[in-house]
Amino acid sequence: MQLNIYKDYNELSAQAANEIIELIKIKPDAVLCLAAGDTPRLAYTLMAKKAGDEKIDFTRCSFIGLDEWVGIPPQNAGSCRYFLQTTIFTPMRIATAQINLFDAMSADLDKECVKMNTRILEKGVIDLMLVGVGMNGHIGFNEPGVLVSNNAHVIDLDEVTQSVGQKYFSEPVAIKKGITLGLNQLLQSKKAILMANGSKKATVIRRALEGEINTEMPASIIRKHTNGIVMIDEEAASLLKSEPVIHKK
Ligand code: F6R
Repeated sequence: MQLNIYKDYNELSAQAANEIIELIKIKPDAVLCLAAGDTPRLAYTLMAKKAGDEKIDFTRCSFIGLDEWVGIPPQNAGSCRYFLQTTIFTPMRIATAQINLFDAMSADLDKECVKMNTRILEKGVIDLMLVGVGMNGHIGFNEPGVLVSNNAHVIDLDEVTQSVGQKYFSEPVAIKKGITLGLNQLLQSKKAILMANGSKKATVIRRALEGEINTEMPASIIRKHTNGIVMIDEEAASLLKSEPVIHKK
């Protein structure tokens, strides 16, 4: 695992955007799995701008959904789909055929999981997974205690996720379950980037990078990835005891 620490959120976001752009330059038909949430928001904005400015061709790549709140409709601004649509798909004119997201309104969520697992197998591999980390250490909606061997699954969201998740919604919502890719799919991706910023994530980053590797802290599993990169800003890195492997200004 590689650890890159950036001066601030702007620098971190610019580098994360570059990672995606550079991948698409060398592999235009790459399979991307990108998290929703506040952490990657600026990276996606910068990516969309750079792709437009430099005329990078995103018409052949495809997008795999990482996760979704069960029971939240796509038109709700707090849904992961709405976020990805408004920050990436609409600005970058990504065609519907390129997008594979969970339908968290489906009456048969197990079937949704099978569909997503099959879609990934058809694609062969996820070239890049870019994930955030929750205040409880979750990746996607892989909550503490989850099995590393999981592929897509439906999960009861823990209390931290249910309460922190309210920040995405304009009014209080019941978000008791999530549908998510599993940690097995994270580990099988060609490259995985875990992003975090801000002092609010410093404790979770310290536990993920310096604590035991187990699913009580799902983000620690990134250390098992053969091509995992942790990209964080100085605030998120502020509680790390050991010397960072790489320090970028
Ligand atoms: C969202 C997702 C979540 C978030 C995590 C951090 O698609 O997968 O795991 O990445 O909860 O959220 P933010 O970035 O809002 O702090």
